[in-house]
Amino acid sequence: MDKILILDFGGQYNQLIARRVREQKAYAEIKPYNKITVDEIKNAGYSGIIFTGGPNSVYDEKSPHFSADILSIGVPILGICYGHQLLTYMAGGVVESANNISEYGKIEVAVEDNKLFENIPEKSIFWMSHTDYVSRVPDGFRCIATTDNCPCAAMCNEEKKIYGVQFHPEVTHSQFGKELLHNFLYNVCNCSGDWSMDKFTQNAIEKYKTELKDKKVLCALSGGVDSSVAAVLLHKAIGDNLTCVFVDHGLLRKNEGDIVEEIFKNQFSMNLIRVNAQERFLSKLACVTEPEKKRKIIGEEFIRVFEEEAKKIGHVNVLVQGTIYPDVIESGKGDAATIKSHHNVGGLPSVIDFDEIVEPLRELFKDEVRAVGLELGIPYDLVWRQPFPGPGLAVRVIGDLTVDKLDIVRDADAIFREEIANAGLEKETNQYFAVLTDTRTVGVMGDARTYGYTVALRAVCTDDFMTADFTRIPFDVLAKASNRITNEVRGISRVVYDITSKPPATVEWE
Ligand code: XMP
Repeated sequence: MDKILILDFGGQYNQLIARRVREQKAYAEIKPYNKITVDEIKNAGYSGIIFTGGPNSVYDEKSPHFSADILSIGVPILGICYGHQLLTYMAGGVVESANNISEYGKIEVAVEDNKLFENIPEKSIFWMSHTDYVSRVPDGFRCIATTDNCPCAAMCNEEKKIYGVQFHPEVTHSQFGKELLHNFLYNVCNCSGDWSMDKFTQNAIEKYKTELKDKKVLCALSGGVDSSVAAVLLHKAIGDNLTCVFVDHGLLRKNEGDIVEEIFKNQFSMNLIRVNAQERFLSKLACVTEPEKKRKIIGEEFIRVFEEEAKKIGHVNVLVQGTIYPDVIESGKGDAATIKSHHNVGGLPSVIDFDEIVEPLRELFKDEVRAVGLELGIPYDLVWRQPFPGPGLAVRVIGDLTVDKLDIVRDADAIFREEIANAGLEKETNQYFAVLTDTRTVGVMGDARTYGYTVALRAVCTDDFMTADFTRIPFDVLAKASNRITNEVRGISRVVYDITSKPPATVEWE
Protein backbone atom coordinates (compact mmCIF):
# COMPACT_ATOMS: atom_id res chain seq x y z
CA MET A 1 0.00 0.00 0.00
CA ASP A 2 1.20 3.53 -0.82
CA LYS A 3 2.00 5.54 2.28
CA ILE A 4 2.55 9.27 2.45
CA LEU A 5 4.26 10.79 5.48
CA ILE A 6 2.95 14.16 6.66
CA LEU A 7 5.89 15.55 8.61
CA ASP A 8 4.31 17.87 11.16
CA PHE A 9 6.06 21.20 11.83
CA GLY A 10 3.17 22.62 13.87
CA GLY A 11 0.85 23.94 11.16
CA GLN A 12 -2.85 24.31 11.85
CA TYR A 13 -3.97 22.44 8.71
CA ASN A 14 -1.99 19.22 9.19
CA GLN A 15 -4.96 16.93 9.69
CA LEU A 16 -6.55 18.54 6.69
CA ILE A 17 -3.51 17.72 4.54
CA ALA A 18 -3.74 14.06 5.58
CA ARG A 19 -7.47 13.98 4.83
CA ARG A 20 -6.96 15.58 1.42
CA VAL A 21 -4.28 13.03 0.55
CA ARG A 22 -6.55 10.18 1.59
CA GLU A 23 -9.38 11.65 -0.48
CA GLN A 24 -7.01 11.12 -3.41
CA LYS A 25 -6.86 7.44 -2.41
CA ALA A 26 -3.35 7.42 -0.92
CA TYR A 27 -2.91 6.51 2.76
CA ALA A 28 -1.35 9.35 4.78
CA GLU A 29 -0.05 9.39 8.33
CA ILE A 30 1.06 12.34 10.44
CA LYS A 31 4.24 12.25 12.54
CA PRO A 32 5.65 15.16 14.57
CA TYR A 33 9.02 16.20 13.09
CA ASN A 34 10.81 15.43 16.36
CA LYS A 35 9.37 11.92 16.79
CA ILE A 36 10.81 10.27 13.68
CA THR A 37 14.34 9.97 12.26
CA VAL A 38 15.62 9.91 8.68
CA ASP A 39 16.49 6.21 9.06
CA GLU A 40 13.01 5.38 10.28
CA ILE A 41 11.54 7.26 7.33
CA LYS A 42 13.86 5.40 4.94
CA ASN A 43 12.88 2.02 6.39
CA ALA A 44 9.15 2.72 6.48
CA GLY A 45 8.94 2.67 2.68
CA TYR A 46 7.04 5.92 2.17
CA SER A 47 6.05 6.84 -1.39
CA GLY A 48 6.29 10.54 -0.59
CA ILE A 49 6.70 13.08 2.20
CA ILE A 50 4.84 16.35 2.81
CA PHE A 51 6.45 18.98 5.02
CA THR A 52 3.61 20.91 6.67
CA GLY A 53 3.27 24.58 7.42
CA GLY A 54 4.04 25.99 10.85
CA PRO A 55 3.91 29.28 12.72
CA ASN A 56 7.67 29.83 12.87
CA SER A 57 10.34 31.56 10.87
CA VAL A 58 13.19 29.27 9.73
CA TYR A 59 15.86 31.52 11.20
CA ASP A 60 14.28 31.54 14.69
CA GLU A 61 16.44 29.63 17.12
CA LYS A 62 13.49 27.66 18.38
CA SER A 63 11.94 26.91 15.02
CA PRO A 64 11.50 23.22 14.13
CA HIS A 65 14.19 21.85 11.83
CA PHE A 66 14.95 18.47 10.32
CA SER A 67 18.09 16.68 9.20
CA ALA A 68 19.08 17.70 5.65
CA ASP A 69 19.89 14.02 4.99
CA ILE A 70 16.19 13.65 4.20
CA LEU A 71 16.84 15.48 0.91
CA SER A 72 18.99 12.68 -0.46
CA ILE A 73 17.10 9.51 0.43
CA GLY A 74 15.31 9.53 -2.91
CA VAL A 75 11.75 9.88 -1.56
CA PRO A 76 9.76 12.72 -3.21
CA ILE A 77 9.04 15.72 -0.96
CA LEU A 78 6.47 18.50 -1.13
CA GLY A 79 6.96 21.41 1.29
CA ILE A 80 3.92 23.55 2.09
CA CYS A 81 4.30 27.16 3.41
CA TYR A 82 6.78 26.84 6.31
CA GLY A 83 7.71 23.47 4.76
CA HIS A 84 8.59 25.28 1.51
CA GLN A 85 10.78 27.76 3.38
CA LEU A 86 12.39 25.01 5.42
CA LEU A 87 13.29 23.06 2.27
CA THR A 88 14.84 26.24 0.88
CA TYR A 89 16.86 26.80 4.02
CA MET A 90 17.95 23.14 4.25
CA ALA A 91 19.08 23.06 0.60
CA GLY A 92 21.03 26.33 0.84
CA GLY A 93 18.59 28.93 -0.54
CA VAL A 94 17.57 32.20 1.14
CA VAL A 95 14.41 33.03 3.08
CA GLU A 96 13.62 36.63 4.00
CA SER A 97 10.98 38.45 5.99
CA ALA A 98 8.61 40.52 3.88
CA ASN A 99 7.70 42.73 6.86
CA ASN A 100 4.87 44.91 5.56
CA ILE A 101 3.98 42.94 2.45
CA SER A 102 2.79 39.70 4.00
CA GLU A 103 0.22 37.87 1.89
CA TYR A 104 -2.93 36.59 3.54
CA GLY A 105 -6.05 35.13 1.97
CA LYS A 106 -6.95 34.37 -1.62
CA ILE A 107 -4.07 35.37 -3.88
CA GLU A 108 -3.67 34.99 -7.63
CA VAL A 109 -0.77 32.69 -8.47
CA ALA A 110 0.86 32.43 -11.91
CA VAL A 111 2.31 28.97 -12.58
CA GLU A 112 4.64 27.50 -15.20
CA ASP A 113 4.04 24.34 -17.12
CA ASN A 114 5.19 21.62 -14.72
CA LYS A 115 4.29 18.10 -13.50
CA LEU A 116 3.00 19.65 -10.28
CA PHE A 117 0.66 22.00 -12.13
CA GLU A 118 -0.84 19.64 -14.70
CA ASN A 119 -4.48 20.63 -15.43
CA ILE A 120 -4.05 23.85 -13.43
CA PRO A 121 -4.58 27.11 -15.39
CA GLU A 122 -1.70 29.51 -15.80
CA LYS A 123 -3.40 31.89 -13.35
CA SER A 124 -5.66 30.79 -10.47
CA ILE A 125 -6.42 31.48 -6.82
CA PHE A 126 -4.56 29.81 -3.97
CA TRP A 127 -4.79 30.47 -0.23
CA MET A 128 -1.73 32.17 1.26
CA SER A 129 -0.76 33.01 4.81
CA HIS A 130 2.86 34.12 5.17
CA THR A 131 5.24 36.93 6.01
CA ASP A 132 8.55 35.22 5.20
CA TYR A 133 9.26 34.33 1.58
CA VAL A 134 11.86 32.53 -0.50
CA SER A 135 14.09 35.23 -2.02
CA ARG A 136 16.62 32.87 -3.64
CA VAL A 137 15.99 29.24 -4.54
CA PRO A 138 18.70 26.71 -3.62
CA ASP A 139 21.14 25.46 -6.27
CA GLY A 140 19.55 22.78 -8.40
CA PHE A 141 16.07 24.25 -7.88
CA ARG A 142 14.09 26.59 -10.09
CA CYS A 143 11.15 28.85 -9.38
CA ILE A 144 7.92 27.64 -11.02
CA ALA A 145 5.27 30.05 -9.70
CA THR A 146 4.98 33.69 -8.68
CA THR A 147 2.48 36.17 -7.26
CA ASP A 148 2.55 39.99 -7.36
CA ASN A 149 4.37 40.08 -4.02
CA CYS A 150 6.10 36.73 -3.90
CA PRO A 151 8.98 36.07 -6.30
CA CYS A 152 8.98 32.33 -5.61
CA ALA A 153 5.51 30.98 -4.81
CA ALA A 154 6.66 27.49 -5.83
CA MET A 155 9.93 25.77 -6.69
CA CYS A 156 11.18 22.39 -7.78
CA ASN A 157 14.19 20.18 -8.24
CA GLU A 158 12.79 17.70 -10.73
CA GLU A 159 15.75 15.37 -10.62
CA LYS A 160 15.46 14.95 -6.84
CA LYS A 161 11.64 15.09 -6.96
CA ILE A 162 11.56 17.87 -4.36
CA TYR A 163 8.86 20.56 -4.60
CA GLY A 164 7.85 23.49 -2.43
CA VAL A 165 4.76 25.72 -2.51
CA GLN A 166 4.29 28.88 -0.48
CA PHE A 167 0.48 28.52 -0.58
CA HIS A 168 -1.88 26.00 1.01
CA PRO A 169 -3.31 23.51 -1.53
CA GLU A 170 -5.18 21.66 1.24
CA VAL A 171 -7.72 24.40 2.06
CA THR A 172 -10.90 24.68 0.03
CA HIS A 173 -10.21 28.34 -0.83
CA SER A 174 -7.42 27.13 -3.12
CA GLN A 175 -9.21 26.70 -6.45
CA PHE A 176 -6.97 23.94 -7.77
CA GLY A 177 -5.53 22.62 -4.52
CA LYS A 178 -6.97 19.14 -5.05
CA GLU A 179 -5.41 18.95 -8.51
CA LEU A 180 -2.03 20.01 -7.11
CA LEU A 181 -2.05 17.31 -4.44
CA HIS A 182 -3.25 14.77 -7.00
CA ASN A 183 -0.34 15.74 -9.28
CA PHE A 184 2.20 15.38 -6.49
CA LEU A 185 0.84 11.96 -5.54
CA TYR A 186 0.44 10.53 -9.02
CA ASN A 187 2.92 12.45 -11.26
CA VAL A 188 5.75 12.71 -8.74
CA CYS A 189 5.29 9.93 -6.15
CA ASN A 190 3.77 7.44 -8.65
CA CYS A 191 1.09 6.36 -6.20
CA SER A 192 -1.27 3.66 -7.35
CA GLY A 193 -4.45 4.88 -5.57
CA ASP A 194 -4.94 1.81 -3.45
CA TRP A 195 -6.51 3.41 -0.34
CA SER A 196 -10.27 2.98 -0.33
CA MET A 197 -12.83 2.26 2.34
CA ASP A 198 -14.27 -0.82 0.68
CA LYS A 199 -10.81 -2.38 0.57
CA PHE A 200 -10.09 -1.26 4.13
CA THR A 201 -13.32 -2.87 5.29
CA GLN A 202 -12.71 -6.17 3.50
CA ASN A 203 -9.08 -6.35 4.66
CA ALA A 204 -10.02 -5.54 8.25
CA ILE A 205 -12.71 -8.23 8.31
CA GLU A 206 -10.30 -10.82 6.91
CA LYS A 207 -7.55 -9.75 9.31
CA TYR A 208 -9.74 -10.02 12.42
CA LYS A 209 -11.25 -13.30 11.23
CA THR A 210 -7.77 -14.79 11.55
CA GLU A 211 -6.34 -12.77 14.43
CA LEU A 212 -9.35 -13.04 16.71
CA LYS A 213 -10.41 -16.58 15.80
CA ASP A 214 -11.89 -18.36 18.85
CA LYS A 215 -11.31 -15.32 21.05
CA LYS A 216 -13.91 -13.85 23.37
CA VAL A 217 -14.31 -10.19 22.47
CA LEU A 218 -16.14 -7.47 24.42
CA CYS A 219 -17.27 -4.05 23.18
CA ALA A 220 -18.88 -1.11 24.98
CA LEU A 221 -21.49 0.09 22.51
CA SER A 222 -22.84 3.60 23.00
CA GLY A 223 -24.85 3.94 19.80
CA GLY A 224 -22.42 6.66 18.66
CA VAL A 225 -20.82 6.38 15.23
CA ASP A 226 -17.37 5.13 16.27
CA SER A 227 -18.36 2.36 18.65
CA SER A 228 -21.16 1.24 16.30
CA VAL A 229 -18.85 0.94 13.30
CA ALA A 230 -16.14 -0.82 15.35
CA ALA A 231 -18.71 -3.29 16.70
CA VAL A 232 -20.32 -4.13 13.36
CA LEU A 233 -16.93 -4.53 11.71
CA LEU A 234 -15.85 -7.04 14.33
CA HIS A 235 -19.20 -8.78 14.25
CA LYS A 236 -18.73 -9.39 10.52
CA ALA A 237 -15.36 -10.95 11.34
CA ILE A 238 -16.10 -13.04 14.42
CA GLY A 239 -19.90 -13.22 14.76
CA ASP A 240 -21.15 -14.39 18.14
CA ASN A 241 -17.71 -14.35 19.72
CA LEU A 242 -18.34 -10.62 20.06
CA THR A 243 -20.49 -9.45 22.95
CA CYS A 244 -21.62 -5.83 23.04
CA VAL A 245 -22.72 -4.16 26.24
CA PHE A 246 -24.96 -1.12 25.85
CA VAL A 247 -25.51 0.81 29.06
CA ASP A 248 -28.74 2.79 28.92
CA HIS A 249 -28.18 5.43 31.59
CA GLY A 250 -31.55 7.06 31.00
CA LEU A 251 -29.91 10.19 29.65
CA LEU A 252 -30.39 9.37 25.99
CA ARG A 253 -32.57 11.21 23.49
CA LYS A 254 -36.14 10.20 22.70
CA ASN A 255 -36.40 6.49 21.76
CA GLU A 256 -32.62 6.26 21.33
CA GLY A 257 -32.14 3.19 23.52
CA ASP A 258 -34.82 1.30 21.61
CA ILE A 259 -33.37 2.33 18.26
CA VAL A 260 -29.91 1.08 19.24
CA GLU A 261 -31.38 -2.21 20.41
CA GLU A 262 -33.47 -2.61 17.27
CA ILE A 263 -30.54 -2.00 14.93
CA PHE A 264 -27.89 -4.12 16.58
CA LYS A 265 -29.93 -6.90 18.13
CA ASN A 266 -32.62 -7.34 15.50
CA GLN A 267 -31.18 -6.06 12.23
CA PHE A 268 -27.60 -7.23 12.72
CA SER A 269 -28.42 -10.18 15.04
CA MET A 270 -25.58 -9.20 17.33
CA ASN A 271 -25.00 -10.52 20.77
CA LEU A 272 -26.12 -7.35 22.59
CA ILE A 273 -26.70 -6.91 26.29
CA ARG A 274 -28.75 -3.81 27.06
CA VAL A 275 -28.43 -2.77 30.66
CA ASN A 276 -31.34 -0.62 31.77
CA ALA A 277 -29.63 1.35 34.49
CA GLN A 278 -31.74 4.51 34.38
CA GLU A 279 -32.83 4.41 38.01
CA ARG A 280 -29.35 3.65 39.24
CA PHE A 281 -27.89 6.67 37.47
CA LEU A 282 -30.73 8.99 38.47
CA SER A 283 -30.51 8.08 42.12
CA LYS A 284 -26.76 8.82 42.11
CA LEU A 285 -27.45 12.12 40.38
CA ALA A 286 -30.30 13.24 42.64
CA CYS A 287 -29.91 16.89 43.76
CA VAL A 288 -26.53 17.26 42.00
CA THR A 289 -26.40 20.62 40.23
CA GLU A 290 -22.71 21.14 39.52
CA PRO A 291 -21.95 20.04 35.92
CA GLU A 292 -18.47 18.65 36.52
CA LYS A 293 -19.82 16.61 39.43
CA LYS A 294 -22.57 15.22 37.20
CA ARG A 295 -19.98 14.19 34.61
CA LYS A 296 -17.83 12.51 37.25
CA ILE A 297 -20.72 10.56 38.73
CA ILE A 298 -21.91 9.39 35.32
CA GLY A 299 -18.39 8.37 34.24
CA GLU A 300 -17.83 6.39 37.44
CA GLU A 301 -21.25 4.77 37.45
CA PHE A 302 -20.82 3.79 33.83
CA ILE A 303 -17.64 1.94 34.71
CA ARG A 304 -19.31 0.23 37.68
CA VAL A 305 -22.24 -0.99 35.57
CA PHE A 306 -19.95 -2.18 32.82
CA GLU A 307 -17.69 -3.92 35.30
CA GLU A 308 -20.64 -5.86 36.74
CA GLU A 309 -21.71 -6.99 33.28
CA ALA A 310 -18.18 -7.95 32.33
CA LYS A 311 -17.88 -10.06 35.48
CA LYS A 312 -20.94 -12.03 34.40
CA ILE A 313 -19.24 -12.76 31.08
CA GLY A 314 -16.01 -13.82 32.79
CA HIS A 315 -12.53 -13.49 31.37
CA VAL A 316 -12.45 -11.86 27.93
CA ASN A 317 -9.50 -12.00 25.56
CA VAL A 318 -10.06 -8.73 23.76
CA LEU A 319 -11.61 -5.37 24.62
CA VAL A 320 -12.68 -3.31 21.58
CA GLN A 321 -12.35 0.47 21.57
CA GLY A 322 -13.67 2.91 18.97
CA THR A 323 -10.53 5.11 18.98
CA ILE A 324 -10.17 7.05 15.71
CA TYR A 325 -7.17 8.76 14.10
CA PRO A 326 -7.70 12.30 15.47
CA ASP A 327 -7.71 10.78 19.02
CA VAL A 328 -4.39 9.09 18.22
CA ILE A 329 -2.86 12.31 16.88
CA GLU A 330 -4.19 14.42 19.76
CA SER A 331 -2.93 12.01 22.42
CA GLY A 332 0.60 12.45 21.05
CA LYS A 333 0.51 16.19 21.72
CA GLY A 334 0.79 18.38 24.80
CA ASP A 335 -2.14 19.29 27.02
CA ALA A 336 -4.50 22.06 26.07
CA ALA A 337 -6.40 23.68 28.92
CA THR A 338 -9.24 21.46 30.10
CA ILE A 339 -12.48 23.40 29.74
CA LYS A 340 -14.61 20.45 30.84
CA SER A 341 -13.91 16.80 31.39
CA HIS A 342 -14.99 14.40 28.67
CA HIS A 343 -16.69 11.15 29.36
CA ASN A 344 -15.58 8.56 26.85
CA VAL A 345 -15.25 5.24 28.64
CA GLY A 346 -11.54 5.89 29.20
CA GLY A 347 -11.55 4.09 32.54
CA LEU A 348 -12.80 0.74 31.23
CA PRO A 349 -9.48 -1.00 30.67
CA SER A 350 -8.62 -0.70 34.36
CA VAL A 351 -11.64 -2.69 35.54
CA ILE A 352 -12.03 -5.39 32.90
CA ASP A 353 -10.20 -8.67 32.98
CA PHE A 354 -8.81 -8.87 29.44
CA ASP A 355 -5.59 -9.67 27.53
CA GLU A 356 -5.46 -7.06 24.78
CA ILE A 357 -7.17 -4.00 23.31
CA VAL A 358 -8.16 -3.87 19.65
CA GLU A 359 -8.86 -0.52 17.99
CA PRO A 360 -10.06 -1.31 14.47
CA LEU A 361 -10.60 2.35 13.49
CA ARG A 362 -7.42 3.93 14.86
CA GLU A 363 -6.13 4.75 11.37
CA LEU A 364 -9.32 6.44 10.18
CA PHE A 365 -10.66 9.97 10.10
CA LYS A 366 -14.32 10.51 10.99
CA ASP A 367 -15.47 10.75 7.36
CA GLU A 368 -13.66 7.48 6.64
CA VAL A 369 -15.31 5.83 9.66
CA ARG A 370 -18.67 6.90 8.23
CA ALA A 371 -17.78 5.47 4.82
CA VAL A 372 -16.87 2.16 6.48
CA GLY A 373 -20.17 2.27 8.39
CA LEU A 374 -22.14 2.62 5.16
CA GLU A 375 -20.02 -0.12 3.57
CA LEU A 376 -21.02 -2.38 6.47
CA GLY A 377 -24.72 -1.64 5.94
CA ILE A 378 -25.26 0.48 9.07
CA PRO A 379 -28.32 2.74 8.52
CA TYR A 380 -27.53 6.19 7.08
CA ASP A 381 -29.17 8.03 9.99
CA LEU A 382 -26.90 6.35 12.50
CA VAL A 383 -23.77 6.79 10.40
CA TRP A 384 -24.52 10.52 10.00
CA ARG A 385 -25.79 10.95 13.54
CA GLN A 386 -24.88 14.31 15.05
CA PRO A 387 -22.44 14.18 17.98
CA PHE A 388 -24.01 13.46 21.34
CA PRO A 389 -22.02 13.80 24.59
CA GLY A 390 -21.33 10.70 26.68
CA PRO A 391 -23.13 12.18 29.75
CA GLY A 392 -26.06 12.82 27.42
CA LEU A 393 -28.98 14.92 28.55
CA ALA A 394 -27.39 15.40 31.97
CA VAL A 395 -25.43 18.27 30.40
CA ARG A 396 -28.55 19.62 28.71
CA VAL A 397 -30.64 19.95 31.85
CA ILE A 398 -29.23 22.84 33.82
CA GLY A 399 -29.38 22.27 37.57
CA ASP A 400 -30.55 19.08 39.21
CA LEU A 401 -31.96 16.17 37.19
CA THR A 402 -35.40 14.65 37.59
CA VAL A 403 -37.39 12.22 35.47
CA ASP A 404 -39.82 15.04 34.64
CA LYS A 405 -37.14 17.44 33.49
CA LEU A 406 -35.51 14.75 31.37
CA ASP A 407 -38.87 14.01 29.74
CA ILE A 408 -39.39 17.70 29.00
CA VAL A 409 -36.01 18.21 27.36
CA ARG A 410 -36.36 14.92 25.46
CA ASP A 411 -39.72 15.97 23.99
CA ALA A 412 -38.61 19.50 23.16
CA ASP A 413 -35.44 18.15 21.54
CA ALA A 414 -37.39 15.63 19.45
CA ILE A 415 -39.68 18.40 18.16
CA PHE A 416 -36.77 20.68 17.30
CA ARG A 417 -34.98 17.88 15.44
CA GLU A 418 -38.17 17.00 13.61
CA GLU A 419 -38.67 20.60 12.46
CA ILE A 420 -35.06 20.87 11.31
CA ALA A 421 -35.62 17.69 9.29
CA ASN A 422 -38.97 18.93 7.92
CA ALA A 423 -37.25 22.10 6.72
CA GLY A 424 -34.48 20.01 5.07
CA LEU A 425 -31.82 21.73 7.19
CA GLU A 426 -30.07 18.66 8.64
CA LYS A 427 -27.06 19.13 6.39
CA GLU A 428 -26.88 22.89 6.99
CA THR A 429 -26.11 22.56 10.66
CA ASN A 430 -23.66 20.21 12.37
CA GLN A 431 -25.34 19.91 15.74
CA TYR A 432 -28.73 21.02 17.03
CA PHE A 433 -30.57 20.29 20.23
CA ALA A 434 -32.72 21.61 23.06
CA VAL A 435 -31.56 22.60 26.54
CA LEU A 436 -33.75 22.85 29.62
CA THR A 437 -32.62 25.94 31.50
CA ASP A 438 -33.34 26.24 35.20
CA THR A 439 -35.12 29.54 34.67
CA ARG A 440 -38.89 29.65 35.03
CA THR A 441 -40.84 32.58 33.69
CA VAL A 442 -44.38 33.86 33.53
CA GLY A 443 -46.54 32.93 30.57
CA VAL A 444 -50.18 33.08 29.61
CA MET A 445 -52.18 30.20 28.23
CA GLY A 446 -55.93 30.20 27.66
CA ASP A 447 -56.35 33.38 29.75
CA ALA A 448 -54.54 31.81 32.68
CA ARG A 449 -51.18 32.68 34.11
CA THR A 450 -48.54 29.96 33.78
CA TYR A 451 -45.14 29.70 35.35
CA GLY A 452 -43.08 27.29 33.33
CA TYR A 453 -39.55 26.49 32.24
CA THR A 454 -37.53 28.21 29.54
CA VAL A 455 -36.20 25.93 26.83
CA ALA A 456 -33.19 27.08 24.82
CA LEU A 457 -32.61 25.82 21.29
CA ARG A 458 -29.01 25.57 20.10
CA ALA A 459 -27.72 24.89 16.59
CA VAL A 460 -24.14 25.33 15.40
CA CYS A 461 -22.12 25.18 12.21
CA THR A 462 -18.56 23.99 12.63
CA ASP A 463 -15.76 22.03 10.95
CA ASP A 464 -14.16 20.59 14.05
CA PHE A 465 -16.29 21.57 17.11
CA MET A 466 -13.26 23.46 18.48
CA THR A 467 -14.81 26.67 17.20
CA ALA A 468 -18.38 27.08 16.02
CA ASP A 469 -20.83 29.67 14.79
CA PHE A 470 -24.53 29.62 15.61
CA THR A 471 -26.60 28.46 12.65
CA ARG A 472 -28.77 31.08 10.95
CA ILE A 473 -31.95 29.02 11.12
CA PRO A 474 -34.80 30.79 9.29
CA PHE A 475 -37.23 32.51 11.68
CA ASP A 476 -40.23 30.60 10.34
CA VAL A 477 -38.56 27.28 11.23
CA LEU A 478 -37.74 28.57 14.71
CA ALA A 479 -41.30 29.90 15.04
CA LYS A 480 -42.80 26.51 14.14
CA ALA A 481 -40.50 24.70 16.60
CA SER A 482 -41.28 27.21 19.36
CA ASN A 483 -45.00 26.99 18.72
CA ARG A 484 -45.01 23.22 18.80
CA ILE A 485 -42.79 23.00 21.89
CA THR A 486 -44.98 25.35 23.95
CA ASN A 487 -48.15 23.59 22.76
CA GLU A 488 -47.03 19.98 22.91
CA VAL A 489 -44.61 19.84 25.83
CA ARG A 490 -46.05 20.30 29.25
CA GLY A 491 -44.42 22.82 31.58
CA ILE A 492 -42.75 25.16 29.08
CA SER A 493 -43.74 28.77 28.84
CA ARG A 494 -40.89 30.21 26.81
CA VAL A 495 -38.47 29.20 24.03
CA VAL A 496 -35.27 31.10 23.25
CA TYR A 497 -32.64 30.63 20.53
CA ASP A 498 -28.94 30.74 21.46
CA ILE A 499 -27.05 33.16 19.19
CA THR A 500 -23.60 32.80 20.76
CA SER A 501 -20.58 31.47 18.89
CA LYS A 502 -17.80 29.31 20.32
CA PRO A 503 -15.72 30.97 21.65
CA PRO A 504 -16.80 32.69 23.87
CA ALA A 505 -19.53 30.12 24.59
CA THR A 506 -19.16 26.34 24.26
CA VAL A 507 -21.51 24.20 22.19
CA GLU A 508 -23.16 22.53 25.19
CA TRP A 509 -24.67 24.67 27.93
CA GLU A 510 -24.02 22.41 30.94
P1 XMP B 1 -18.29 21.91 23.80
O1 XMP B 1 -19.52 22.02 24.64
O2 XMP B 1 -17.06 21.57 24.60
O3 XMP B 1 -18.55 20.65 22.87
O4 XMP B 1 -18.09 23.08 22.91
C1 XMP B 1 -17.82 20.34 21.71
C2 XMP B 1 -18.38 19.05 21.15
O5 XMP B 1 -18.12 17.96 22.04
C3 XMP B 1 -19.34 17.34 22.42
N1 XMP B 1 -19.18 16.92 23.82
C4 XMP B 1 -18.84 15.67 24.18
N2 XMP B 1 -18.59 14.58 23.44
N3 XMP B 1 -18.18 13.33 25.41
C5 XMP B 1 -18.27 13.41 24.07
O6 XMP B 1 -18.05 12.39 23.41
C6 XMP B 1 -18.42 14.39 26.23
O7 XMP B 1 -18.34 14.31 27.43
C7 XMP B 1 -18.76 15.63 25.57
N4 XMP B 1 -19.05 16.87 26.02
C8 XMP B 1 -19.28 17.65 24.92
C9 XMP B 1 -20.40 18.39 22.23
O8 XMP B 1 -21.69 17.83 22.07
C10 XMP B 1 -19.90 19.08 20.99
O9 XMP B 1 -20.21 18.33 19.84
